[in-house]
Amino acid sequence: MKDGALRVGIVGTGFIGAVHAHAARRAGARVVGVSSSTPASTKGAVERLGAEQGFVDAAALVRSPEIDVVHVCTPNHLHVRLSAAALDAGKHVVCEKPLAMDDAEAADLCARVSAAGVVASVPFVYRFYPMVREARARLARAPGTIRLVHGSYLQDWLSTAEDDNWRVDAEWSGRSRAFADIGSHWCDLIEFVTGDRLVAVCAELVTALPERVARGPHVHAFEASDGDPGRPRPVTTEDVALVLFRMAGGVTGSLVVSQISSGHKNQLRFEISTADATLAFDQEQPDTLWLGRRTASELLARDAAQVDPSAAAYVTLPPGHPQGYQDCFDAFVADTYRAIEAGSSDIVDGLPTFADGARAVRVTEAVLRSASTHRWEDVSGDPRTDGGAT
Ligand SMILES: NC(=O)c1ccc[n+]([C@@H]2O[C@H](COP(=O)([O-])OP(=O)(O)OC[C@H]3O[C@@H](n4cnc5c(N)ncnc54)[C@H](O)[C@@H]3O)[C@@H](O)[C@H]2O)c1
Repeated sequence: MKDGALRVGIVGTGFIGAVHAHAARRAGARVVGVSSSTPASTKGAVERLGAEQGFVDAAALVRSPEIDVVHVCTPNHLHVRLSAAALDAGKHVVCEKPLAMDDAEAADLCARVSAAGVVASVPFVYRFYPMVREARARLARAPGTIRLVHGSYLQDWLSTAEDDNWRVDAEWSGRSRAFADIGSHWCDLIEFVTGDRLVAVCAELVTALPERVARGPHVHAFEASDGDPGRPRPVTTEDVALVLFRMAGGVTGSLVVSQISSGHKNQLRFEISTADATLAFDQEQPDTLWLGRRTASELLARDAAQVDPSAAAYVTLPPGHPQGYQDCFDAFVADTYRAIEAGSSDIVDGLPTFADGARAVRVTEAVLRSASTHRWEDVSGDPRTDGGAT
């Protein structure tokens, strides 16, 4: 950090850009600049996000000597280009998921991080719920006991043909939509909580709405239809992903991902059954962890005095005072900045880095491959050390 507060620049100022700005300020950084898709939207974002200035374009922001950390919060197709430019300019980078469109691009970004010697993180923020840390700590204390892992990540904001967003368009989103967008969070979380790794996946993808009304790329996530009759356009990205997986430790599991499940807003759930209990977590009820037992199941509450120290470290409020999604983001950004100050990601337990972003890209590619070959596909290996080959 130079002369006190870290100087942050945010590219992309929609839903998640605003969440990043809040988290950056909460961590004591200055939001020095923002850049959006047009001069008008940049001007609006300066005010909305409380930034000190607007940059004429993303390229100017990522190279600016006034900025120490670049947050890339644009649609997916710009992540690689903007992150690479920021890394080459010696900036620390926080890049949204999906980190890249394919394995080779993700491996290239990881190589640039090493060359630049900077901190580069990816917001797999569900890792930062205290009760997720509690589940992780409990499983670490009972190694080798997991018998079954399953869960889902369900949303409904794309459930009608009138719902549109840039994510629907493969050129902006990548070839996978639902899995890359939210399934990747679930897989990252499961590997994080279990300490195990997916080694093979078998997937089926469903595009339940083969046509949607085109409303243009600038509709933000979770916005309802504006009633514009629009024009129908074909959809090539999936609404639903069904995935079976095997883990290195021998456990088998399953995952349902959907953006068309009415009534489910942002419901990431997992259940992990061990020899003597089932641990269940629900992102929409994140202050509790269900411990299912043959007798005397219990609902463990987020209470710093009751949970493992690794979970208590992320408790910011007393029990009964809900903590939520923004709190996870605040903790993730604070941890990223802590790593920057220390000069290494290794001092922070569980910081999701570009290596984890690359891992998620690899799993996404295997899911796409499996859906087309109808076979199990390998997801072992490390994209950083095997040159992105699968
Ligand atoms: N980690 C998470 O939990 C999480 C949650 C939501 C979104 N995301 C990710 O964040 C990213 C953005 O998603 P969103 O929901 O905020 O989308 P959004 O549509 O709400 O916002 C995208 C922003 O990018 C801007 N933009 C587009 N082209 C640009 C350009 N060339 N230069 C600068 N800005 C440009 C748009 O004007 C808009 O402000 C996506 O990659 C998404 O996957 C992550």
